[in-house]
Amino acid sequence: MSSDRNSPAVRTASYEADPANVHRVLLLYSGGLDTSVMLKWIQDEYQAEVVCLTVNLGQPGEDYDVIRGKALQLGAVECHVVDARTEFAREYLTPAIKANALYGGGYPLFTALGRPLIAKLAVEYARRDGCDTIAHGCTGKGNDQVRIEATVATLAPELKIIAPVRTWQMGREEEIAYAREHGIPVKGGTEAAPYSIDDNLWGRSSEGRWIEELDHAPEDDVFQLVTRPEDAPDEPELVELAFERGLPVALNGERLELVELIERAAEIGARHGIGIVDHIEDRIVGLKVRDIYEAPAAALILSAHQELERLVCTIHQNQFKPQLDRQWAFLVYAGLWWEPLRVDLDAYMDQVNERVTGTIGLKLFKGHVRVVTRASPNAVYDASLASFSESGGLFSQSASPGFIELWSLQSRMAWRLRNQ
Ligand code: ARG
Repeated sequence: MSSDRNSPAVRTASYEADPANVHRVLLLYSGGLDTSVMLKWIQDEYQAEVVCLTVNLGQPGEDYDVIRGKALQLGAVECHVVDARTEFAREYLTPAIKANALYGGGYPLFTALGRPLIAKLAVEYARRDGCDTIAHGCTGKGNDQVRIEATVATLAPELKIIAPVRTWQMGREEEIAYAREHGIPVKGGTEAAPYSIDDNLWGRSSEGRWIEELDHAPEDDVFQLVTRPEDAPDEPELVELAFERGLPVALNGERLELVELIERAAEIGARHGIGIVDHIEDRIVGLKVRDIYEAPAAALILSAHQELERLVCTIHQNQFKPQLDRQWAFLVYAGLWWEPLRVDLDAYMDQVNERVTGTIGLKLFKGHVRVVTRASPNAVYDASLASFSESGGLFSQSASPGFIELWSLQSRMAWRLRNQ
């Protein structure tokens, strides 16, 4: 790679690295083609040492020994593999569940929730290992660059950032040629570009190829996590999720740690084809794109949580909280995890969720999840009041006409003014 494709001479942001001062780089390493090419390229281009960091957020099917071996073989001075699943579940998925976090009505934010943690760990390991620069594999068109760079610039103003994929403008063909030339093993064939995948405990996304054609219906091979609904079992399955103070604590009566509970929920949901979302999305950098999501655990847990919340909250809380939920999801989607408003919103989410305790029964069948049973000691519900037959107690049916007269007063007056 010629160095005229190096970082631009003019650096737009204060945190972009000056090539002359890049000596030891912490590279966020996945083991894939982009970050493997980067690993070599950074050593050649900057004559810098590279420390790799690979973060386990519960992405299925990774062999971390292989990834670490590959990094060392490609010249990394060290490759840390960090199992951050518990921290991810406790500190990132927990508030997301309490906020029923969905962006654009359908995307449960797994990538958006993972990036601030990955970047925070990059800062920790960069400091520990005396690195001056953090490198990541994001392109210039996505949200992930925003999430990672905003995190690093917030938590570690002394560290600089390089994003080679954003500046080098190598196409896939060129990257593969570079890899061949530099002894970087390339997985699979070179024929078709694969989908662009990201995944963790909370879900999986696919982008690229035919997904970019909006009128192209999903092809079967995109679904690698969730069974296609048409192939799901012909018998429905009932699942019971118990919550305490807003968090799922048991599945079908068995108490489980959050990570394991999420993994089990994902497995059951995936078997029944649950959690597929074909999503048109407004990226924060202005682009409108399409993503195919598979998020079975989120589909189960968020449906149940939302239902339980509705049961224990009043009509006023139920009108208000979804507005804050939406704001929470937008901030996190938009890469502003460290923004104080998010913490303020969490205080409200925690407060409401103090009472979100109980059990929700879900019925899963061929791609659909439906709430079928509810139980909570905190339900603002009284079966005898709600029933059609009973009268008396706290509810007086004879008071209803008076209520209706006053409740509709302004609307009736306004209607008359407009219609006489
Ligand atoms: N559209 C989603 C988001 O912005 C998923 C992005 C997946 N990231 C990736 N590098 N493939 O959060």
